[in-house]
Amino acid sequence: MSLAPQELENSASKYAAEAIRLDSQGSRGMAIQSYQRAIEALVKLVQIYPDYKLNKVYMERANAYQNRIKALQMSHGLEEEERPASTSIDNSKQEPSNGHGSKPASTKSTNVETLKADFDDLVMKEKPNVSWNEVIGLEDAKRAIRESIVYPMKRADLFPLGWPRGILLYGPPGCGKTLLAAAAAAEIDGYFINVDAASMMSKWLGEAEKNISKLFKMARTLNESENVPVLLFIDEIDSLLGTRNSEVGGEVRVKNQFLTEMDGINGKSKESQLYVIGATNKPWSLEGGFLRRFQKRIYVTLPDNASRTNLFSQYTAPLNVEGSLKIEELAKITEGYSASDIKDICQSVQLRVVNELFESGKAMEAGTNPRPVNTPDFREILKIRKPSVSVDMIRAYMRWSDQFKAL
Ligand SMILES: Nc1ncnc2c1ncn2[C@@H]1O[C@H](COP(=O)(O)OP(=O)(O)O)[C@@H](O)[C@H]1O
Ligand SMILES: [Mg+2]
Repeated sequence: MSLAPQELENSASKYAAEAIRLDSQGSRGMAIQSYQRAIEALVKLVQIYPDYKLNKVYMERANAYQNRIKALQMSHGLEEEERPASTSIDNSKQEPSNGHGSKPASTKSTNVETLKADFDDLVMKEKPNVSWNEVIGLEDAKRAIRESIVYPMKRADLFPLGWPRGILLYGPPGCGKTLLAAAAAAEIDGYFINVDAASMMSKWLGEAEKNISKLFKMARTLNESENVPVLLFIDEIDSLLGTRNSEVGGEVRVKNQFLTEMDGINGKSKESQLYVIGATNKPWSLEGGFLRRFQKRIYVTLPDNASRTNLFSQYTAPLNVEGSLKIEELAKITEGYSASDIKDICQSVQLRVVNELFESGKAMEAGTNPRPVNTPDFREILKIRKPSVSVDMIRAYMRWSDQFKAL
């Protein structure tokens, strides 16, 4: 009796985790499918065990997934600018007059719900399904995140002098910034709020300042009222300072609002478990005041030779490879390629042999398989697949890093 709800719950969280991962990778269709499955499992659970004590939580989750599906379907059909007015945040939903100081306990839980409802598609209580092992290399970054988030979260008592709450990850695209945030979130037994600043700014056109304040308020309220850690991940954080905001003076106010909110977090009581990880490919567009709010600033670099070897092992593991394939050699000839480039290369090589099989006309015969991939396949792909980040760009990152890094 007690095992069965557990099983359904497990399958719901499995689908949910999968959905969240797909969602964060931009696989909209597949994400919707997984959210759907998670909802089905949750609904079944509630139907079979109508008295189960967590049913309310399950229905809330099912609702959150439903809303996310709606948002995904909507963003598919409409350009950002054409979104219906109902998706913009409604002032009347804000809680009544209680200002910062007073928080009557009776309205607290409804406030959390109201705030959460506004950002439903962003708040995930389920952890993304990424482990530290999947993040290759980047030892500095992993250590910094463990030291300033994971350990304090588990044993706050060991940090009498406090610990940093803001971490900035910067570096070229495709090297694992988003992946690192996901791995950190997987360790958090609390809420993960994933905000893509670029799409937020266009969605919130003209209302960004207000929404940033609501976003942080929600994070604070979740942390305080449920007493669980909250990790706010802001991807493409440079967009907060961008010129996308058409309003005159809009960017300045957005930036100032953000700085104020960060000060609030950094100045919080020692026990506060509210963390902000920001990620950017354009660190040079962030100014000093902004940078100071992130006590840890970590360069997420291109993979070195050892990391490239590990990346090739990881991404060729599911493939059928020729015994003579020299992973070390592949690592040597791919200096300058990003982790995500290497993943793409492995994918292209597999496509190549599959393609061959189809061209040979034998693909539809029972039991036929592509030939194993070999080193020449990789060399051929590398001829037509150049690194996605230029040497000049890397120099720019290094220069910036020398000046501003903070480990
Ligand atoms: N350090 C890494 N280890 C393993 N895979 C990686 C790493 N960096 C990137 N990848 C692969 O590339 C994809 C894109 O990386 P991502 O974290 O989004 O890069 P960034 O956020 O730095 O632009 C990841 O989903 C992962 O598959
Ligand atoms: Mg990213």
